Amino acid sequence: MCGIVGYAGRRRAMGILLDSLKRLEYRGYDSAGIAVVGNGLQVYKDKGFIANLEAQLPSLEGTTGLAHTRWATHGPPSKVNAHPHVDCAGRIALAHNGIIENFAELRDRLKEKGHAFRSETDTESLVHLVESHYEGDLEAAVRSALREVRGSYAIAAVSSEEPGIVVGARNESPLVVGVGPDETFLASDVPALLKHTDKVLYMMDREMVVLTPDGAVIKDLEGRPVDREPQRITWTLEDAEKGGFEHFMLKEIFEQPAAIHETLLGRVANLDVNGFFLDGFTSVKLVACGTSYHAALAGKYILEEIAGVPASAELASEYRYSHGPQERPLVILLSQSGETADTLGAAREAKRRGCKTLAICNVIGSSLTREADKTIYTRAGLEIGVAATKTFVTQLVGLYLIALRLGLDRGTLGDEEADRLKDELRSLPRAVQGILNRADDIRALAEKYGDARDIFYIGRHVNYPIAMEGALKLKEISYIHAEAYAAGELKHGPLALLTPQTPVLAVAVRDHTYEKMRSNIGEVNARGSPVVGVGTEGDRELPKFVDDVIWVPELSPVFVPVPVTVAMQLFAYHAARKRGCPIDKPRNLAKSVTVE
Ligand code: M6R
Repeated sequence: MCGIVGYAGRRRAMGILLDSLKRLEYRGYDSAGIAVVGNGLQVYKDKGFIANLEAQLPSLEGTTGLAHTRWATHGPPSKVNAHPHVDCAGRIALAHNGIIENFAELRDRLKEKGHAFRSETDTESLVHLVESHYEGDLEAAVRSALREVRGSYAIAAVSSEEPGIVVGARNESPLVVGVGPDETFLASDVPALLKHTDKVLYMMDREMVVLTPDGAVIKDLEGRPVDREPQRITWTLEDAEKGGFEHFMLKEIFEQPAAIHETLLGRVANLDVNGFFLDGFTSVKLVACGTSYHAALAGKYILEEIAGVPASAELASEYRYSHGPQERPLVILLSQSGETADTLGAAREAKRRGCKTLAICNVIGSSLTREADKTIYTRAGLEIGVAATKTFVTQLVGLYLIALRLGLDRGTLGDEEADRLKDELRSLPRAVQGILNRADDIRALAEKYGDARDIFYIGRHVNYPIAMEGALKLKEISYIHAEAYAAGELKHGPLALLTPQTPVLAVAVRDHTYEKMRSNIGEVNARGSPVVGVGTEGDRELPKFVDDVIWVPELSPVFVPVPVTVAMQLFAYHAARKRGCPIDKPRNLAKSVTVE
């Protein structure tokens, strides 16, 4: 968690650092800080957003520096816990993303040697450790310090004695280096660099980098040079900005037809999904966190329905510590960022159990894609809003492709049926566009129900995880308490919570569960709770049982989750907007969760 940036060049560092840092604010915004080496080491930090820090900064001279935006792990959000942290002599400043696991042991040892600690963070032990090794060579001191550290880190460090140099390092937390003429950069993520360069070097675990205006030199932790060619980034800065929409989330919702189209491009006819190795598996385990876990759960139904393969889904944080049976399923790991610590841990656990691993991921070169045996990239483009939208629907698309391939390979899916499903798959961008065209109707409903304290979501079969995703979207951005249930479960307890003030959003599309859903809606009607039905276009029955309807196009039931999801995203977005919530940066959350 957290975002870091670094700059070594010939321009004034302050503006560049702040501007770049703002593009990482999705990674956390509990506090922000900056260190610039100019006339000595100048460090400023404060609690809250970057704008708050910026408002109080004097003009800082100096062409070298680093900055940090924090998502708190050790020590509450406060000025004293904000990064960068500084050594006792006030010469070295260091910013960190990750967790130093042996920080307590290091802190006790360093305190005994006389180092004075000011904060409650794990990071501060690292800056004092670097100080204890410092003899005028920051690179050497950081290298020696990191040899004593256990845990995950992406760091940037500067010393007032070495103007013109920024030292960076990474282990299990993301870090990219940007290279421009007469200047170099480092950052937790590419958007921070795009304004200045499209040439990047991806750092690997246990590597260090030294930035100077003349270039970036990467070495391993033993000091051996690493030869790495820069890659060109095709995302433009505009991609990373809002493009006229009020929020990134809304922009990303509207990008979904294109994102689905891109993800399908060149893959449907031959079902070419990256050198497949699906033969020989009798079952599939899908593992992920948060929204990606909802895609995993939907994937269980999709794989069973299309390919007839036994599948199960598990939360990555649970899978890691479970004692799986002896069989070796194919393990599919889903992650937008490819940096989620729990999912990375699950990937390692799957390998330890001797399973083949397949990642479905949106970020090229991310840690998960390097851990997994194979990767299918979703091609959703950059997603900035903390609430995942287009990356979720493209994960579903990835799962459809895998299911079709698997079904054909196993002989559980006939050619004719596969062709029919492929045609429908190709029609999904159109189906989603149909929902987007009706965004105003969904907005009216969201505004009608957006004052509720609690909202329930119900669905059955593959629409049960979609109800879970709808509820998660609503709670994370609007702060309305939302619960999702498999509709058949209501009568086993949750019905007790329903009152006329508790709207229920029920996915009641025309599939094999339709009649049962109608009965469940009847149970809700009997408690006087208003019902918003999500129904199949042309269904004349549903309006008789519900108060309002959101229509979705008629598709094979297995594909219906895609337009239903989009409708739920819009519902959540407009409810949050009505309530004036900070939609792209919900409280307490961060886009990429790189801690366990
Ligand atoms: O990057 P990942 O897909 O691995 O992230 C997993 C979750 O943290 C993430 O899906 C989170 O639940 C969403 N931001 C919620 O919208």
